Amino acid sequence: MHIRTRRGWEIPESLATPEDMFVNRRTLIKGLAAGSILAASPPFAAALSTGAAAAEGDPTADLYPAPRNLRYTLDREITPEEITGKYNNFYEFGSHKQIHQAAQRLETRPWAVVIDGLVEKQMTVDIDDLIRRMSLEERLYRHRCVEAWSMAIPWTGFPMKDFVDFARPLSGARYVVMETFMDPKVAPGQRQFWYPWPYVEVLTIEEATNELAFLVTGAYGKPTAKQFGAPLRLAVPWKYGFKSIKSIVRVSFSDQRPKSFWEQLAGNEYGFWANVNPAVPHPRWSQATERFLTTGDRIPTQIYNGYGEFVADLYTGMDGERLFM
Ligand code: MTE
Repeated sequence: MHIRTRRGWEIPESLATPEDMFVNRRTLIKGLAAGSILAASPPFAAALSTGAAAAEGDPTADLYPAPRNLRYTLDREITPEEITGKYNNFYEFGSHKQIHQAAQRLETRPWAVVIDGLVEKQMTVDIDDLIRRMSLEERLYRHRCVEAWSMAIPWTGFPMKDFVDFARPLSGARYVVMETFMDPKVAPGQRQFWYPWPYVEVLTIEEATNELAFLVTGAYGKPTAKQFGAPLRLAVPWKYGFKSIKSIVRVSFSDQRPKSFWEQLAGNEYGFWANVNPAVPHPRWSQATERFLTTGDRIPTQIYNGYGEFVADLYTGMDGERLFM
């Protein structure tokens, strides 16, 4: 059964409830339900949520800042962390943008990643062992949401190809299936039963081993703030942002292509390939321009979000596929 729910990107931005009003209303309702509105936010919540606290207590903090890889350049300014850290999509913590405080409830240590499916040997790897095994670097990437806003972020992490090599998939593996943690006790969004939790995303092996596919462990020169998807998230900047799954706990290699989270909800709007293309509108709005969050300016969208030189070859001869939706 297809259940229609209202998501942030289902309405034009001009019609959306202003975020501060939305948050205030939610806080009020939550506070009233809890019997004490005064207890709603601890005084240190703001400090916790900015990301400044991300490095504190992180066992890999000594690895940051990592050297910047200058191969990946930007045509725009980096978006300040004060903006990117307070404007997030992380539906596990709410279906609005102001989840940065709620996300601080996620315990990111200990954290294990299961690697299974079509691999030589199934394994569970501790996140700190994994991070120390990989060679961290910083990359400046554009980030384009299907909702038509965009940012530019200095991610730190390692090429996904290095992870795939580490996982040793069998020759029959064609897809990489990634899964986010599942814990409705800390993530209230996961109590919304009409969503097909846990969040799942899928890449082909060719996409996952493309040089741009990046597994993120840090941002802004320190371990990743929780709202960005700590301690391990994906960045595939040529695709719409919903492909960049957060807080990964499992990576399975498969010869089948399961439906991703948004594909299950509305496959005609959030397809498997989801490559950025200004000429292919979302069924309910144009993708011709994007709103750059730093300045608020509308700028033209670029095909493959400007990364065609790296990825266009992946899609040659696939004319029958809905590559851009
Ligand atoms: N991953 C999980 N687990 N849950 C989510 O709700 N939202 C996606 C993606 N990854 C999402 C997710 C969407 S729609 C976008 S645009 C990006 O995360 C947002 O990343 P950001 O908050 O770091 O900008």
